[in-house]
Amino acid sequence: MKRAVSWTIGLVVFAVAAAAAFLVLKKAAAATPSSIKVEMTAERLQRGKYIFEYQADCIGCHSSRDFNRFAGWPKPEGIGAGFEFPKEVGLPGRVVAPNITPDKETGIGEWTDGEKLRPIREGVSRDGRALFPFMPYQHFAKLSDEDAYSVVAYLNTLKPVKSSLPKTELDFPVNLMVKFAPKPLSGPVAGPDRGDKVKYGEYLVGIGSCAECHSKQERGEIVKGMELAGGVEFNIPPYMVRTPNLTPEPESGLGKWSEEKFLAKFRGYANMTYENAPPNNQATFTIMPWYSFSQLTDEDLKAIYAYLRTVKPVYNPVEVHPPVAQP
Ligand code: HEC
Ligand code: HEC
Repeated sequence: MKRAVSWTIGLVVFAVAAAAAFLVLKKAAAATPSSIKVEMTAERLQRGKYIFEYQADCIGCHSSRDFNRFAGWPKPEGIGAGFEFPKEVGLPGRVVAPNITPDKETGIGEWTDGEKLRPIREGVSRDGRALFPFMPYQHFAKLSDEDAYSVVAYLNTLKPVKSSLPKTELDFPVNLMVKFAPKPLSGPVAGPDRGDKVKYGEYLVGIGSCAECHSKQERGEIVKGMELAGGVEFNIPPYMVRTPNLTPEPESGLGKWSEEKFLAKFRGYANMTYENAPPNNQATFTIMPWYSFSQLTDEDLKAIYAYLRTVKPVYNPVEVHPPVAQP
């Protein structure tokens, strides 16, 4: 009996050790980077800029930001130069969006186009490392091949910026679990059908990461039933903001918003620039990427509105700018 117990314990210890070794040694699923050399056409550069700056807000995560200005406007001299997320946002460890300008030493200037493509839709860095899916590659996997090439073409034209940042260092066990996140593409990607307004809106809400900020999360997962219902608190001392409820619930959400009102809200920020963005204060503090989304086309904003009308209405009143004790 005693022997059987110690055998069992021995086996359990062995299994745990083997599982740990497996996780430490495990490599992320990764396809060989494609050998494509992206052709830099004028259409692609224009399209790539639209996706990078507006639709997918690549600019917001990968640029140095001025959090003394409204919306933490990206600094013109730091576009693409990378950004270390403040600890206060509650990420599991140090999360750094790398320098993706063509600088050869501190950016991705030495990478092939295929090596630049792979992280965007498949979540694998040049060295094979699995990227933390806070980089929204699981959404970007839906970018069409043509859109993905356009983004890479545009990245190739960014001004090289010398800026060395530390590497992402995730806490245990996220540092091991992250290896299961990347997924190679299974074939060519056609992109969304723009004729289906609601589906196209859903796609835009995905690549715009709207739900990531506007839904309560627990351990990195959106709480079921609270999709887009807001109430997430972002503390960036000395300021704090909570995301509003975007569901079509009439009292606490956007239920009473007409399409005109929705578009007007975005257009209200369309003429703001880095130069004229007002200084931050608690009453207007935000991390909503207005610098990006205020520039979306009418077609895109209307599709987003159409999709938001179809999500489950959730009653969740949110005080977006509560008074915060100033130091
Ligand atoms: C919500 C923030 C966020 C957005 C939006 C975002 N990224 Fe990232 N990106 C990151 C983070 C964080 C990493 C690094 C993750 C890690 O180190 O595990 C990253 C990694 C990358 C890498 C790999 C760089 C390297 O050195 O491994 C590339 C390339 C990249 N992003 C391009 C883009 C492009 C292009 C877009 C827009 C289509 C974009 N990103 C949008 C946060 C973001
Ligand atoms: C990085 C976090 C973040 C992302 C990503 C984000 N939002 Fe927001 N959003 C906020 C915050 C914070 C506010 C509240 C403060 C403000 O109005 O600027 C807000 C406000 C709004 C408002 C104003 C609602 C009201 O009641 O006044 C709308 C509409 C909105 N977001 C829609 C969107 C859509 C659509 C997307 C995706 C395309 C999106 N947001 C992505 C953080 C975010």
